[in-house]
Amino acid sequence: MRTLAMGALVGALMFAAAGSAMAQEDKVVLKDGPGRDKTMQCIACHSVDYIPMNSRFLNKAGWTAEVNKMINVFGAPIPKSDVEEIATYLTQNYGTGPAK
Ligand code: HEC
Repeated sequence: MRTLAMGALVGALMFAAAGSAMAQEDKVVLKDGPGRDKTMQCIACHSVDYIPMNSRFLNKAGWTAEVNKMINVFGAPIPKSDVEEIATYLTQNYGTGPAK
């Protein structure tokens, strides 16, 4: 009985360790919604953790500037024609409020 309990405890600890290791990889999954597929282009360089990390600070103008910065400063291979849709998606799902 004691061995069994120990085994269960070790198992639980290993599960917790694996869970936290994974959390650093891809715990954050973008919310479903229009524009999500285009926003997936953002993960070419960094994880989408950056998005919820910055949410609540950014309104539509802020997200538009952020997406443009990714393109202009960091060279993100995102077509300019996608900026509006991505910024709208980010604002609606992760912004300070509804897209204006
Ligand atoms: C070409 C590579 C690349 C792509 C594609 C890219 N980013 Fe970034 N992003 C970066 C780099 C480089 C940084 C800053 C350095 C760091 O901290 O990793 C960054 C940082 C950020 C930050 C943190 C705040 C800041 O300004 O530093 C946010 C938010 C962000 N990116 C959002 C996005 C979004 C949204 C997209 C999709 C539209 C995107 N990124 C696509 C390279 C990229």
